Amino acid sequence: MSLVTQLNDYINAAFSGLWVTTVEPDEAERELVEHARRRQWTLAVWDLARGLRFPANAPATVPQVDDPLAVLKALPTLAPVPTGEDATTSEPTTLLVLPNFHRFLNSPEIVQNLFEQLVAGKQSRTFIVVLSPVVAIPVELDRVFVVIDHALPTPDQLGQIAQDVLADHPDGIPTNRAWQSLLEAAAGLTRAEAEGAFALSLARHDELRPEVIWELKAQTLRKQNLLTLHRGPGDFTSLGGLTALKDFCRRALQPGRSVKPRGALLLSPPGCGKSAFCRALGNETGRPVLTLDIGNLMGGLVGDTERNVRQALKIADAMSPCILFADELEKGLSGVGGSGDSGVSTRLFGTLLSWLADHESDVFFIGTANDISRLPPEFTRAERLDAVFFVDLPVAAERQTIWQLYRRQYDIAANQPIPTDTDWTGAEIKSCCRLSALLDVSLTEAAKNVVPVAHTAAEAVAKLRQWASGRCLSADRPGLYVHSPEAGDTSRRKVRRPADPQNN
Ligand SMILES: Nc1ncnc2c1ncn2[C@@H]1O[C@H](COP(=O)(O)OP(=O)(O)OP(=O)(O)O)[C@@H](O)[C@H]1O
Ligand SMILES: [Mg+2]
Repeated sequence: MSLVTQLNDYINAAFSGLWVTTVEPDEAERELVEHARRRQWTLAVWDLARGLRFPANAPATVPQVDDPLAVLKALPTLAPVPTGEDATTSEPTTLLVLPNFHRFLNSPEIVQNLFEQLVAGKQSRTFIVVLSPVVAIPVELDRVFVVIDHALPTPDQLGQIAQDVLADHPDGIPTNRAWQSLLEAAAGLTRAEAEGAFALSLARHDELRPEVIWELKAQTLRKQNLLTLHRGPGDFTSLGGLTALKDFCRRALQPGRSVKPRGALLLSPPGCGKSAFCRALGNETGRPVLTLDIGNLMGGLVGDTERNVRQALKIADAMSPCILFADELEKGLSGVGGSGDSGVSTRLFGTLLSWLADHESDVFFIGTANDISRLPPEFTRAERLDAVFFVDLPVAAERQTIWQLYRRQYDIAANQPIPTDTDWTGAEIKSCCRLSALLDVSLTEAAKNVVPVAHTAAEAVAKLRQWASGRCLSADRPGLYVHSPEAGDTSRRKVRRPADPQNN
């Protein structure tokens, strides 16, 4: 819902404190001013640099104020005195817009005054609108503010921005299809960023080119340090095995489905191809892959982490349909609720979880983890994700496919025998082929340098398999993963078919 639609409803219902979270305060202000003009509301803006301004319907006498406390105290005098018809029909409405006012809320005097103005405002129809990139409402004011989100621009709004940029370039307007891909490329940018990207493309190529916008978007995301846009080679054919997982994702992400997929969690010992799979998912399904860097999200200051996650999720929502990939989840979320945790990971995790449960955008979340015991159980609850898969060490037939893939990639002669590879992961097979090519030695010789994780971390692998058994879906065949330790290599997994009533 647009900012002004939400604001209008709250103002009609006399909510006198409105806290707008926005990364574009100037744009939010512009939208508010335009709306206030249309509705004939009085609107004043105060900030530290420019003082008090009246972009819409100034009152007869303008009070002199130069500090935040004075501006709050002056609020009742900003409202025009109702005259004539106004006096009987409708109360006048007055808005005081305060960009970045959260900076002043550590003063008890300001908090108290704000509280009083907000309580009085319900009667006098004087409204205070704080524009801030964060939700930082002091507890005393919690009940008197409602929070409104200033969303990133919709495709229609982006289209309007592109048209404005193209105003002097009538022949630069792309065809319908190109227009669509242009808007897809710009999704997730703020209005100012989108305008900049369109202008740059025009300056460089005399037309709007999606690839320029993508490039700029990738740069912008990198700079913000919240998300990175993955673009690289590789689809499902670059991965051996994982048949059930591939099939599940292909089906769930088919375009035009009425039910939107939520996401999946992949659990496995290191080197089994989780990260490679998530990256390949983008090329396979034609969706952009946004990588959520959990480490970077944990900002230094209190409140930063939550703001970072919200902003990252907002961008992902705006880029829908897309894939949101969070690698090695447990590293960022360890200690949730535990001692050692200052509440940062708990908040990060809470925000992510509620988004997972509530988001309506077509964003497919895919997370990976090596150690489920560090992940809080809420993560795997059914309504949040569509499936939790366990990717076990590849069985003989899968290893065969993986050998073939990397022999081809590293140009290794077909007549070279394959070394003993019991319990090897895909990563170990790849590394053996790479070493063989690099050192110009046989695969058997190269294999001497490979120490399988199944041996170095045998206990962790056993624990993980045990945990996954009966809880996770198997990544390589349909049904639940069931671990039976005493069985040999190829029959290690006994899989229950989906038709099994215990699975439902
Ligand atoms: N089944 C597979 N088919 C082809 N390549 C594979 C397979 N499994 C792993 N690899 C290769 O091994 C390398 C390491 O895999 P990847 O990083 O995806 O493992 P991971 O499960 O994410 O490990 P970690 O838990 O350590 O992050 C990648 O280059 C990947 O392509
Ligand atoms: Mg990985």
